[in-house]
Amino acid sequence: MRSATLASALALAARVLLVAATPTPTEPEQPCKRASLPTVTASGNAFWTGKTRFYVRGVDYQPGGSSAMKDPLADTTVCLRDVAEFKELGINTIRVYMTDNSANHDTCMNALADAGIYVIIDANNPLYSINRYDPATSYNHEYLQSVFATIDEFIKYDNTLAFFSGNEVINDNITSTLAARYVKATTRDMRQYIGKRGYRKVPVGYSAADVSQNRMQLANYMNCGTDDARSDFFAFNDYSWCNTNFVTAGWNQKVRNFTDYGLPIFLSEYGCITNGRDFGEVAALMSPEMTSVYSGGLMYEYTLEENGFGIVQIPSPESPSVNEKEGFAKFAKALSANPAPSGDGGFTSTTKAVACPTKDADWLIDTTLLPAIPEGAKVFMKDGAGAGPGLKGKGSMNAGGSSTGDASPGSGTTTVTPTSTKNSAGIATIGAIDKAPLILTALVFVLTLSGTLLL
Ligand SMILES: *[C@@H]1O[C@H](CO)[C@@H](O)[C@H](O)[C@H]1NC(C)=O
Ligand SMILES: *[C@@H]1O[C@H](CO)[C@@H](O)[C@H](O)[C@H]1NC(C)=O
Repeated sequence: MRSATLASALALAARVLLVAATPTPTEPEQPCKRASLPTVTASGNAFWTGKTRFYVRGVDYQPGGSSAMKDPLADTTVCLRDVAEFKELGINTIRVYMTDNSANHDTCMNALADAGIYVIIDANNPLYSINRYDPATSYNHEYLQSVFATIDEFIKYDNTLAFFSGNEVINDNITSTLAARYVKATTRDMRQYIGKRGYRKVPVGYSAADVSQNRMQLANYMNCGTDDARSDFFAFNDYSWCNTNFVTAGWNQKVRNFTDYGLPIFLSEYGCITNGRDFGEVAALMSPEMTSVYSGGLMYEYTLEENGFGIVQIPSPESPSVNEKEGFAKFAKALSANPAPSGDGGFTSTTKAVACPTKDADWLIDTTLLPAIPEGAKVFMKDGAGAGPGLKGKGSMNAGGSSTGDASPGSGTTTVTPTSTKNSAGIATIGAIDKAPLILTALVFVLTLSGTLLL
C-alpha cells in the first residue's frame, strides 16, 4: 500500500517535472532574442560581474514623479525614448521607484539590457508600503504579497541589479526611527522569499534618507544581528556636495565612518542643484579615495519635475522626444571623464555584521527583536505570491498588521491569490530560469500529496 502510493506519487512527480521542463506547443514565440547582461552579485563590500568590480553609474528614473503613479518600464514608448537618452549619457544603471507588478516588462527590460543598463527596483510603491507613522498596521500580508509579486516580475531579468526594501521610510531622528524594525523585517522577508523560491540571489537592501543624526545607527541596524535579517548592501541619499570638494562636503568622514562596514554601499540619490550642476560627485565616487568603501551612485534625477533636479524636460508624458537641459551634457561629460576604475578598487573581501546600535536621543529602538512575518504571508514562501495588484486598488496600508495578528478575512484576503495558475501562465512568457521555482513547487506539491496519502 505504502510503496504503491509512493510509486504513483513518484510517477506523478515525474510527469509534473516533465510538463514543467517541456515548453508547451502553444507557447508563443519570443518576439526577439532575450538580451542578456552578466548578472551582478554582491561579495565582500563590493558588487561584481564575474570577477570584474561593478560600480553603479546611473540615474534615478521616475517620469512624472511618484504622484503620476506610472511605471515607465511598462510603457514602451516612454521606455524606448529614454533608453536612447540613457545610452547618450553613458550610464549603466537606472533606479525605478514605482513599477506595476501586474504589467509585462519584456520589451523595456530587453532594450535596457541591449544598452548595457541594469535596473534597481523599489519593491514598494505609495499604495503598498510601510507607513512610517503606523508601521505595525502597514506590515501585513497584502503589503508583502505586492512586494513579493514585484520580485517575481523582475527577478527573471538578468539585468535586475538589486531590490530596495524601502525608500526613506525613516526620515527623522524621532518617531520614524521606530519604523526601521518593519523595514528590516521586510528586507528579511524579501531575502527569504528569494531563497525559498529558488531564485537568483539578487541583492536586497534599504535606501536611506539623508538624516545626519542617525545615518550610522540606521546603517548599522540594517547590518547587525543574524545573517538572515541582515541586508545585502546599504544605500543612502546624499546632497551635500555643493560648490565644494571631498573634504568640505564631509565625504572623507563618510568614507572613514563606513570603512569596515562589511557590505557594499552606494549613493541611491546624489546631485546638489545649487552649484550649477557640475557633478563633481562623479570624480569623487570613482576615485581611489572612495572606491574601497563605495560602489558608485545614482544621480537624482533624469526627468525635470517640480523640484527642479532633472536633466531632461519632457513636453508631455508620451512625447516621443525629450529636451535635454544643460545638466544633461554636464552629467554625460562627468561620466566619460571619470570611467570606472580598473582593478578591484581596494575593496574588502570579507562580509561581516556590525554591532547593533543602542537606544539614544537619535535612535529610539531599544530591541534587536524583529516583528514576525504576518501569518497570512507565510504561504507565499511555499506557493509564490500569485498575481500582483499593480498600481491600483486600495493599497495595503490599512489591511492590518503584525501587532494585531494577521488581517481578518474581511480585510482583503480576496486579493491574495497564491495559486499555481500564475506559474503555469508564467511559463509562456518567462525564460528557463523561472522554471526552477516551478519545479520546486511541483516537488513540494507531490511530496505533500504523498505525505498526506501515507497518513
Ligand atoms: C561619522 O561618525 C561620527 C561618530 O558616530 C558622527 O559623529 C559623524 O556625524 C559621522 N559623520 C558623518 C558624515 O556621517
Ligand atoms: C533629534 O535631533 C535634534 C537636532 O540634532 C536634537 O536636538 C534632538 O535632541 C534629537 N532627538 C530627538 C528625540 O528629538
